[in-house]
Amino acid sequence: MNTFFIVVLAVALVYFGTLFWFTDGQSNPRLNLNRLKNNKWHFGKDFLWGSATSSHQVEGYCTNNNWYKFESAVNEQGKPRILNGQKAGIASDHWNRYKEDIQLMKALSLNAYRFSLEWSKIEPRQGEFDEGALDHYEQVVDELLANGIEPMVTLHHFTDPLWFEEQGAFLQENSPEIFASFVERVVGRLGRKVRLWCTINEPSVYAMQGYLKAHFPPAVKDPRHVGIVFQNLLRAHTAAYQRIKKLEPQAQVGLVVALVLYDPPNDWNILDVALARSFNKGLNESHLTYLVDGIFNFSIPGAARVSFTNGIKDAFDIVGLNYYTRFFQSFGFYGGEFFKEVFKAPPEKLTDMRWEIYPEGLYRTLKMITRFTSKPIYITENGIADDSDTRRAGFIEDHLLVLNKAVADGMNVKGYFYWSLLDNFEWAFGFTKRFGLYHVDYTTQKRTLREGSKKYPEIIQKSREQ
Ligand code: BGC
Repeated sequence: MNTFFIVVLAVALVYFGTLFWFTDGQSNPRLNLNRLKNNKWHFGKDFLWGSATSSHQVEGYCTNNNWYKFESAVNEQGKPRILNGQKAGIASDHWNRYKEDIQLMKALSLNAYRFSLEWSKIEPRQGEFDEGALDHYEQVVDELLANGIEPMVTLHHFTDPLWFEEQGAFLQENSPEIFASFVERVVGRLGRKVRLWCTINEPSVYAMQGYLKAHFPPAVKDPRHVGIVFQNLLRAHTAAYQRIKKLEPQAQVGLVVALVLYDPPNDWNILDVALARSFNKGLNESHLTYLVDGIFNFSIPGAARVSFTNGIKDAFDIVGLNYYTRFFQSFGFYGGEFFKEVFKAPPEKLTDMRWEIYPEGLYRTLKMITRFTSKPIYITENGIADDSDTRRAGFIEDHLLVLNKAVADGMNVKGYFYWSLLDNFEWAFGFTKRFGLYHVDYTTQKRTLREGSKKYPEIIQKSREQ
């Protein structure tokens, strides 16, 4: 063998070995969606078919939380924080119209509903609980149960009471305890009626958007805070889990993780591949290693690093997966940052959020979870912002075909919740993005079923008939 050949071989080995190491040996499945159409449906009789909402986005009348304050604030350029200066206000008036909305769920053959409790309504001042607000949520639960719809309750979905924000919210070391006291009170009231609990919705999103991107309150841009807040949210999950299980051992409790896949814009560029790996590890898998082993490692390349072990393993019964899309990040030096988002998808594959429609990602994120645990998984959110309603039916069908394959391949998925039942307040985008199965006319509050949404009950019925 000549030297040249040996050098080429060695370089190739190092190159492919490094690529393999960075991709963790995981290949991206190329699923043939057309071929999946021939499969029979594998969702069993007990499968939960639902839709999801969150309090601030649909209820209305949230005047005591961090978002209420944020909606009146301006950014460094004096511009409103929310697109077009919109405010959640009465939102979709779900607080008053929940009975009507439950009938809308029934009309779609749904048997589950994921919604969140508004902490700022239940505990308006620290340690003071509003029994009227608790009565309201108990009535919602009763109405659901009376209509054969299983409630799945989220205890924290992005909003904090003002008093909690003023203290420093989840930057505080004792924030998990403060949150757990609220949880204990709620479970004392609803625990006998509710089986499925989600503690915290999307820790990574709350931390990144509030403390780095400044799209969420408190709109701070400090990478060092991201890891601390992320860590405290995970600790808050564990504290809540322990309180719930002590009161109601049979409850099924989980964390809701947003798994946004990161892919390299160029598969052969080791730096892009390494960057994607680091994002997937830090923002996605970090939730799972924490849940399974009690170990948390988080870093933003070049800016912040947090490591933490609490030794508490397996403090969860179920995993909630919110899946929407994937992002491409390219490595480089871009004005103080080491990465930049790259858009690769053609316009017809984009939602109104400019997110790529990528159903295969649902399979990949489920695979990611099953590498850590075999406990039951619920798709707690998946949906599309599509004002023109031209892509909704295809989005629903393709994601359910992929989910069906995951179930057929043995993944332990127990339910699917479409985001969202109704058009609603889409955070910094205000009312401009329409995710609803039902269109909401915000002047009259009239709900109208979208044509594209009909695909959802159609598939549910077909799968039940098998
Ligand atoms: C959040 C929802 C949000 C949806 C669409 C999820 O990250 O949990 O509150 O409306 O994404 O952006």
